[in-house]
Amino acid sequence: MERIQVALERARAKRGTVAKPADKANARPATPIKGSANLVEAWKAIKVFEPDPQLLAANRIPAYERNQLSTPIDMLRTKVLQMMRDNGWNRLAVTSPNAACGKTTLSLSLAFSIARQPEQRVAVIEMDLRRPNVAATLGMPRGTSQFANALEGRAPIEEHLVRISENILVGANHGSARHPSELLQSDTMRTALDEVERVYQPTIMIFDMPPTLVSDDMVGFADTVDCALLVAAAESTSISEVDNCERDISERTNVLGVVLNKCRYMGKEYGYDYYS
Ligand SMILES: Nc1ncnc2c1ncn2[C@@H]1O[C@H](COP(=O)(O)OP(=O)(O)O)[C@@H](O)[C@H]1O
Ligand SMILES: [Mg+2]
Repeated sequence: MERIQVALERARAKRGTVAKPADKANARPATPIKGSANLVEAWKAIKVFEPDPQLLAANRIPAYERNQLSTPIDMLRTKVLQMMRDNGWNRLAVTSPNAACGKTTLSLSLAFSIARQPEQRVAVIEMDLRRPNVAATLGMPRGTSQFANALEGRAPIEEHLVRISENILVGANHGSARHPSELLQSDTMRTALDEVERVYQPTIMIFDMPPTLVSDDMVGFADTVDCALLVAAAESTSISEVDNCERDISERTNVLGVVLNKCRYMGKEYGYDYYS
């Protein structure tokens, strides 16, 4: 691998070019989503929230706008989209064996990366209703969204969704829900998600889930999605935890793969500096 790297660098130096992403590809789509008048109106009616890019960067979400740090996430995006498209899937759960592996960070990064493709409509729904942190990670002001109310059928879905730029919807929570386990298996929850799908027609729905091994929330919810991505944290998740998590989830849905997060030691070829 190292020799390939050296050869590539030599070839680039000879050409006098550096492999950098094209500038015009960096921006997020600025045009409204395309679709029927009803669809465009439904998206336009959702309150807009623009996160602070500096806060996102501090929270390790580099993929809001394309840059060198977003490359690994963009590579993951491509693989995930290919697998989902090949199978006709559009609901993806992001879970992990235990807490703090980076599920929320990855769910949002993936959403921003996918949303840079203007034909995509992305919905991120927070399902970790015990320790919600999507709103805090994005810096949403308190009171903006408590999507659990919509899942419980106590409020209209549009009241608890926010829109980021043109093609991302987020259903986040500022506080925990009362009975997460029951809610995640309930008919009202299924109806609310079906409504999100019917009204906003997301090309992909990303569910930021709780950890799998600490409650029955994820396993109870698993047959609501088409597939799942498991996140493991290097140096803190054990192989047997990944194994147990994979076994539990794969009994109920399709496991796309395991993302090894928080790696401190990587080969240069996988590093963020590849394009620099
Ligand atoms: N690749 C990473 N490297 C270092 N820290 C990370 C990484 N991904 C996430 N974190 C940090 O780990 C903590 C937990 O991340 P979070 O996404 O909230 O995890 P989870 O949703 O799985 O509980 C946060 O402080 C986050 O910034
Ligand atoms: Mg989380």
